[in-house]
Amino acid sequence: MDALLGTCSLPQLRRRRSAKWRTYPDDVLPAFVAEMDFDLAPQIGPAVAAALAIGDCGYPHKGALGEAYAAFAADRLGWDVDPGRVYPIPDVMTGLAEVVEAVTPPGSGIVVNPPVYPPFRFRFGFYGRRIIDAPLARDEAGRYDLDPAAIGAALSQPGAAAYLLCSPHNPTGSVWSAGQLEMAADLCQRYGAVLLVDEIHAPLVLPGARFVPFGSLRHEMAGQAFVFTSASKGWNIPGLKCGVAVAGSEQGCALLEERAEALLAAHLGVLASVAAFTDGRPWLDAALGQLDENRALLAGLLREHLPAVGYAQPQASFLAWLDCRALELGDDPSAVFLDRGRVAVGRGPDFGNEGHGFVRLNIGTSPALITEAVRRMASAL
Ligand SMILES: Cc1ncc(COP(=O)(O)O)c(C=O)c1O
Repeated sequence: MDALLGTCSLPQLRRRRSAKWRTYPDDVLPAFVAEMDFDLAPQIGPAVAAALAIGDCGYPHKGALGEAYAAFAADRLGWDVDPGRVYPIPDVMTGLAEVVEAVTPPGSGIVVNPPVYPPFRFRFGFYGRRIIDAPLARDEAGRYDLDPAAIGAALSQPGAAAYLLCSPHNPTGSVWSAGQLEMAADLCQRYGAVLLVDEIHAPLVLPGARFVPFGSLRHEMAGQAFVFTSASKGWNIPGLKCGVAVAGSEQGCALLEERAEALLAAHLGVLASVAAFTDGRPWLDAALGQLDENRALLAGLLREHLPAVGYAQPQASFLAWLDCRALELGDDPSAVFLDRGRVAVGRGPDFGNEGHGFVRLNIGTSPALITEAVRRMASAL
């Protein structure tokens, strides 16, 4: 592994006190929640420590976040963002929830594409909104695609008010093409739905895939949508509580400004995110190289130890979506892997009906720990 990423030594990782390392007893190898095991990018710790050293622990100021994100988006994603349209938020889900509450009437439907990140499916219920599923299409090789017929049918339902698009998609690791994004934008326009795009995994697009930022499209909806992203997945700093909302329009900016008090990021998170987007790029490149290697390693390990498991390599990020239906372990194979194999993977059914018989394995770690996770999964059978 690249020296920037460290060694992912298990005794050292077990000293972490985050959810990944505290949820299960020590005999369980955790590979469920979306935290990576690599060392922190070397620029982030000092940025936070410098603030702590002078007691700089107050409320957040946007500071250089707009410019830092805009420069990252321009250099790495091919998207020219106006820094004035960039707003700090505490995290992507809070930003989404606040905007959903502002732009959709109570009782309205939010369209999502299962299998999808579980909070998409329950979070908006807290605000009196309901979920309308537009499942992804899946081919025989296990590759997923946006399904125009399903999205159109969902958006045409009474009360459908918004479409929440996950791009790249969690848990499938799919990276959507410009054509797919335009199709989604056309449908939102046709049905008058607000488009919310979650691009939190965009910094982690892997070699071979080309990420198209929604805001870079020449489409009217690009000037109306809200895009949400963060350094939290790319640089593994969700605990520092800072995400980014990009408003497509002046109206969107006004909405985010009006709700600024409800969307306060952590000050230390803003500082860490600026450091990540600006100086953390060599670390990101090291992580991308390792994840590219890891996704291929997993393919080989599954072929050898769990040949009945279906796996299409992710085009982005550090999550592997595994079709375990042929193992006949029931709706939730993760329970068997945990109980008998002592490895904690993500529960497929949490991602929607389409996740029955599936699990999500986190590969944001060392080859040694991925090998151990697969060994434990196989030992459960
Ligand atoms: C697609 C997606 N959106 C949002 C989040 C959560 O991000 P945040 O902690 O910024 O709310 C995750 C976390 O894994 C995610 O995968």
